[in-house]
Amino acid sequence: MKIARISFAFLLALGLFTAVAAQYKKKTLIAHRGASAYAPEHTLEAYRLALTQGADFVEQDLQITKDGVLVCLHDLTLERTTNVEEVFPDRFKMENNVKHWNVSDFTLAEIKQLDAGSWFEAKFTGARIPTWQEAIDLVRGKAGLYPETKGPEVYGSRGFDMERLVLAQLKKNKLPDKKTPVIIQSFSPESLRKMKSELKTTLPLVFLISPSQKNWLTPEGLQKARAFAIGIGPAKTLLDGKPELVKLAHDTGLSVTPYTSTTKISSRFSSVREEMNYYLNTLGVDALFTDNPDQFPR
Ligand code: G3P
Ligand code: CA
Repeated sequence: MKIARISFAFLLALGLFTAVAAQYKKKTLIAHRGASAYAPEHTLEAYRLALTQGADFVEQDLQITKDGVLVCLHDLTLERTTNVEEVFPDRFKMENNVKHWNVSDFTLAEIKQLDAGSWFEAKFTGARIPTWQEAIDLVRGKAGLYPETKGPEVYGSRGFDMERLVLAQLKKNKLPDKKTPVIIQSFSPESLRKMKSELKTTLPLVFLISPSQKNWLTPEGLQKARAFAIGIGPAKTLLDGKPELVKLAHDTGLSVTPYTSTTKISSRFSSVREEMNYYLNTLGVDALFTDNPDQFPR
């Protein structure tokens, strides 16, 4: 009986280790919104540059158009990173006295009319919001895909099933494949639980943890997360100075991928490379989201 119990514990530990090892084979660079320190986030230009700069994975935040197409954009609305206000001046909705142009109120054909580059720099004028399919076609075979379900509950309330769309599109593309690993991430535990338990995906799932969700970073919280995720993606500030949290996550069988190392926001480090070096080699995280793939310390 005792031997059986020991064997079971050993197999469980081995299973957890194998799962994490299978997720990341080395310290891993995830290009956050593409190489978004140098090119407009979530454009093919930013994804192309990320590949040139050696990204292991290219991240895509996903939204859904009115006609049900997954597109790559961080916000649920179009106004921050496109000229939607000029092209469709009357198509906004008022929320808390602020005008918003929701992605899901526009067809893909309408969204393709928008300039998603000039807000960043004039030389990118004319860049478009890519469909997820365009991102897949560009990245596959060269790096992994790291899609995020953004606002899945909001899309659910608007009649869309984001998780089903994501998994169906991967299946249609026969992904993952040998050269194109896929990891799915979300801030929504419900979204991850649904993909794992209801939609039965066996893909690695990473649970993003924002500062307001920091109560997940306890032994009990991480045990709960382990039931639906193979890794966590905490805001980097939640880990700063806390190697014990990284160890706790690892001991729970979870990989650790903090977000986001960038030159776009100041930090306590003298350079983004130094910051990434600290997280990877002092704290011992497994992977990093960065806007600056060329600064990732190999
Ligand atoms: O997905 C990791 C990181 O991208 C989470 O933050 O807001 O940039 O999607 P956000
Ligand atoms: Ca993201």
